Amino acid sequence: MTAPDGKPFLYVVVCAAGIAAGVGELITGARRRGWEVGVIATPVAAAGFFDVDAARELSGRPVRSAWRTPGEPRPFPPPDAVVAAPATFNTVNKWAAGLADTLAVATLCEASGLGVPVAVLPCVADALAVHPAYRDSLTRLRGMGVRFGARWSGVPEGDGARPEFGWERAFELVE
Ligand SMILES: Cc1cc2nc3c(=O)[nH]c(=O)nc-3n(C[C@H](O)[C@H](O)[C@H](O)COP(=O)(O)O)c2cc1C
Repeated sequence: MTAPDGKPFLYVVVCAAGIAAGVGELITGARRRGWEVGVIATPVAAAGFFDVDAARELSGRPVRSAWRTPGEPRPFPPPDAVVAAPATFNTVNKWAAGLADTLAVATLCEASGLGVPVAVLPCVADALAVHPAYRDSLTRLRGMGVRFGARWSGVPEGDGARPEFGWERAFELVE
């Protein structure tokens, strides 16, 4: 299934990590590669972690974070691939547990069952990554076929500079 113009459709699920401010790079890169993009943000992410207006401009579609009402048409076509970037500790754990309390997590919960590639770029601090719930979540999601990029913690390297997040890793995982 593809977008009406015949291009493949990518869902970009954005969580409330500081690095989300750069998600425009992912949207732009995806469109350059021929994807149509629909952005689905967690409510916390949409409330100030990235420029929602810019994401709407770049994707050419409204940014979603709430469910439609039953009478409303589906705003996005079904996805050909789903990328969660950045993915927070909170969302990864809710996703693995099947707690679909936001449109973003519900979308992720459903994605594996659609049989499309699903990729994650986790942005989780070292102190949270050792939590047993997180480790269990990774095992469970990997068992569902979800593809993980290396965890990014944002910790500065030896020279004091923060490492690149590497948004383009998402394309290597889904393409
Ligand atoms: C400035 C700021 C940056 C944050 N960065 C991260 C992060 O990189 N990773 C993370 O897991 N949580 C981070 N958090 C905490 C999340 O925003 C918080 O857990 C939130 O509930 C996640 O919601 P979501 O998973 O629904 O997007 C950050 C919070 C703030 C205030």
